[in-house]
Amino acid sequence: MTDATASADTRDELVRHARTAMAQAYAPYSGFHVGAALLFEDGTVVSGANVENASYGLALCAETVAISAAMAAGRRGGLVAVAVIGGIEGEPRDTVTPCGRCRQVLNELAQLGETDPVVWCAGGEAVMETRLSALLPHAFGPANLVL
Ligand code: THU
Repeated sequence: MTDATASADTRDELVRHARTAMAQAYAPYSGFHVGAALLFEDGTVVSGANVENASYGLALCAETVAISAAMAAGRRGGLVAVAVIGGIEGEPRDTVTPCGRCRQVLNELAQLGETDPVVWCAGGEAVMETRLSALLPHAFGPANLVL
């Protein structure tokens, strides 16, 4: 973690980015809107929202959309923080933690850049702070496939 990610201001700003992204969620089937924001060590923020599909099982989570956008833009590391927020019809209530699949997707970029991003899980009030390594201990990742 860099000093920048330790500050409450950084946390609040990244949660704001996630909340703004949540406004673009396409979630007509679950009604559960999620936004995610990724902070990179150069200060860049890349965000995403969940994108559902009439074939329900094809829904893309906000974190996966954000990671895909970042990697499609060329990012291969430098992920220092993640913020997630969500709620029914975009009204945050309970703290939202990344689903299992998203933890693995986040791990790909984290492990590529050898970072352990802080993860801020937001809800209606308090923000829970954790680490990707705590959410996904003993992770399998690209490092396992190096010859
Ligand atoms: N969802 C996310 O976007 N991120 C998560 O980590 C948990 C779930 C989305 C998927 C689906 O569109 C909706 O929330 C309800 O599960």
